[in-house]
Amino acid sequence: MISPADRVKDIEMGFARFFSMRTPEMVDLSVGEPGFDTPAHIKEAAYKAMTKGNIRYAAPLGNDDLREAISHKYKEEYHVDSVKDNVMISHGAKGILYALVQSHVQKGDEVLIQDPGWVSYTEIVKLAQGTPVPVNGNSAEEFVADVERKITPRTKMVLFSTPCNPTGDVYGENALKMLVEIAREKNILVVSDEPYHKIIFDESRHVSPGKFGLENVAVVNSFSKYFSMAGWRLGWVALRWMRVCLQANRLGGPVRPQHRAAGSQL
Ligand SMILES: Cc1ncc(COP(=O)(O)O)c(C=O)c1O
Repeated sequence: MISPADRVKDIEMGFARFFSMRTPEMVDLSVGEPGFDTPAHIKEAAYKAMTKGNIRYAAPLGNDDLREAISHKYKEEYHVDSVKDNVMISHGAKGILYALVQSHVQKGDEVLIQDPGWVSYTEIVKLAQGTPVPVNGNSAEEFVADVERKITPRTKMVLFSTPCNPTGDVYGENALKMLVEIAREKNILVVSDEPYHKIIFDESRHVSPGKFGLENVAVVNSFSKYFSMAGWRLGWVALRWMRVCLQANRLGGPVRPQHRAAGSQL
């Protein structure tokens, strides 16, 4: 009988598990899907790109103009000292997180994961045969203190979102700076997942730990939330070095009209 590989045997279906558990009185915090349509000018840019022949394979790292625009925008808004060469476009933040974990985590490596945190982190780590280690994510300060407590010689990566899905908490500058410093000292990669950077409902301000240097920080983001493009599958990462081979050999660069569409609002 054909059987699946051991590493996929106990993988959960991400938030599909939560759908099956849902009851009418529950508030679903698992999926972050905006309740509005993708703006018309974005759709038009994609259509125009298709009619102009943008239908061939995309470059594995993504469209140069879009990479440039992203690095410029993040530098301007969040002081992340990225350049185009640090930015890779991929198939949603999820595709980026998968590629990042696959290209850094080896069997038995530990990954410190914000808890409560986004549903897919744990399964993505398990797919790489890494060991997910939950870290108290109730506040930025508690998170950093617990990260420090839980670091072992096998710790490879810290993975979290800010603003956080599901808590909505926005991690502050001091805690993030401390996190990056602790991780740098121990040679650990900080993966900051930031698709909700514009979805903040109080006076908090988004801070990207990428502003403290990309030596050991990977900034992950997506067009899914703010621009309501969840189904378009477009995200990006900024980091100092990257294993393009993983994207080139897995899915290739993301769909080309998407690049033009995303670029139309940056
Ligand atoms: C914290 C977090 N990271 C990543 C993702 C995935 O985003 P994308 O649609 O870009 O793959 C989600 C989607 O809900 C999310 O909530």
